[in-house]
Amino acid sequence: MGTGRGILLSERQEANCRDRRLLQTSRLAGKLGELAMDQPFVGQAAACFIWSAVPYREEWRHGTQAAKGILLDAGRVCQNLYLACESIGCGTCAIAAYRQEGLDRFLGLGGEDELVVYLAPVGKVEEA
Ligand SMILES: Cc1cc2nc3c(=O)[nH]c(=O)nc-3n(C[C@H](O)[C@H](O)[C@H](O)COP(=O)(O)O)c2cc1C
Repeated sequence: MGTGRGILLSERQEANCRDRRLLQTSRLAGKLGELAMDQPFVGQAAACFIWSAVPYREEWRHGTQAAKGILLDAGRVCQNLYLACESIGCGTCAIAAYRQEGLDRFLGLGGEDELVVYLAPVGKVEEA
């Protein structure tokens, strides 16, 4: 997850991450916006959830159908973020437009064994 201060890796990613500099990346907001196909709000949000998938975990069982399960799961998780945001006065926006190779590399993911599948910046909704 990207925040104004840095990138918070999930427990497992952190264990696998050899490049600790990831956690203290400067220019994070600008970089995230750029990698999200030049959508600045993605980097400017208070937090940005970035979900990655490890295709083999689905492929060993479902073979060529694996992509369907992975993407359905990502959609379901993101939908729950929409619901959670609504309940605390925040907003989010599903993001599928991003530079695949660039973002995978930025997060230290190989892009084959593990790759980004979805993003969702989160922020407070302005009072009307
Ligand atoms: C799979 C998916 C990908 C999306 N990617 C983007 C995106 O890259 N940038 C963006 O601004 N909105 C993105 N959206 C959000 C849609 O633009 C948004 O859901 C649509 O405008 C409808 O919004 P509304 O239901 O609030 O009217 C995406 C939505 C989905 C479901």
